[in-house]
Amino acid sequence: MSGREELAEQLSSRLVGQAHAIAEIVPYVQMHRAGLGPEGRPAGVFLLLGPTGTGKTRTVEALADALHGSEKNLVRVDCGEFQMEHEIAKLIGAPPGYLGHRETLPMLTQQKLGAVTSEGSNLALVLFDEIEKAAPSMTRLLLGVLDKAVLRLGDNTSVNFERTHIFLTSNLGASAMRKEVLPDFGFGSAMAGTGEGTLRKLSSIGLGAVKRKFAPEFVNRIDAVVTYQPLDEDALEAILDHQIAALERHIAQRLEERAFTLELDPSARSFLLEKGTSREYGARELKRIILRRLTQPLAAMVEANLIPSGAVVQAAHGDADKLTLRVVD
Ligand SMILES: Nc1ncnc2c1ncn2[C@@H]1O[C@H](COP(=O)(O)OP(=O)(O)OP(=O)(O)O)[C@@H](O)[C@H]1O
Ligand SMILES: [Mg+2]
Repeated sequence: MSGREELAEQLSSRLVGQAHAIAEIVPYVQMHRAGLGPEGRPAGVFLLLGPTGTGKTRTVEALADALHGSEKNLVRVDCGEFQMEHEIAKLIGAPPGYLGHRETLPMLTQQKLGAVTSEGSNLALVLFDEIEKAAPSMTRLLLGVLDKAVLRLGDNTSVNFERTHIFLTSNLGASAMRKEVLPDFGFGSAMAGTGEGTLRKLSSIGLGAVKRKFAPEFVNRIDAVVTYQPLDEDALEAILDHQIAALERHIAQRLEERAFTLELDPSARSFLLEKGTSREYGARELKRIILRRLTQPLAAMVEANLIPSGAVVQAAHGDADKLTLRVVD
């Protein structure tokens, strides 16, 4: 298998239903690995658009996991924390001599970039989440980073971004996209189509919104604008499977000799899907629902010594608004 296919496969085992996003990003990783990345520019700049809970942030976490062995190996800048001009100093640090200079150590330093790389890869992943929320000076600052791969800090030193992939995420156009896929949004509304045609429409809505908000020189410096599509039922089911498998691994590894096997009845699956996923919020709530409806009740049973070692616990959904957990030997 080529490096490209291997990475694509690793990513698709973590990110469901957004194959086009993977296809856009992987060649840039490969270009960097081959030493053919651009000089004096970041190795890749991606703008991720689309509705909430469809996997934009997850994409960067999955890439961090694939490249560096941990989802946490990325620098994340939550742009919502930089809505005011003066807050930008948190990013780059205040110039020397300014009051409070010592307290405003920059968030983005060469060291921080180095700290999120690994033996396997020297590519640092930097995520600017929800860029539309940041103060305008953030865009100016980013412009320099995207253009020359250099960020000048308050103390006049500079950070080199050549060995980075920069991911910008935004909800720009997301409400118009939602109207496009859910014309008569409401409970029980039919699943609107996903697929090529929908994706094209959503992409053009997203790009339009981006062009209205950001200057052309900013948009021109982005290597790929990727629009995420709403997850269909199959994708949501696959995400549930992944998360249940993760819980099972957790049980096996953490509980060791007290470990047990989990069996989900189809009724339990549909209960979790119904509670944890929606066209509106995608898979955003699924983790929390699994935690509250399955992991926590299981933990209570473990605490009360109700599960003999090696037992099978069957989860089903009856009439009440919860799962019933039954131990079978
Ligand atoms: N395509 C996907 N594949 C696998 N898991 C997903 C996917 N989309 C969402 N999830 C699950 O839902 C959670 C939320 O997704 P994520 O944070 O990527 O949403 P987002 O697109 O960044 O939304 P927002 O615009 O609200 O930031 C993830 O942590 C993951 O558990
Ligand atoms: Mg996100």
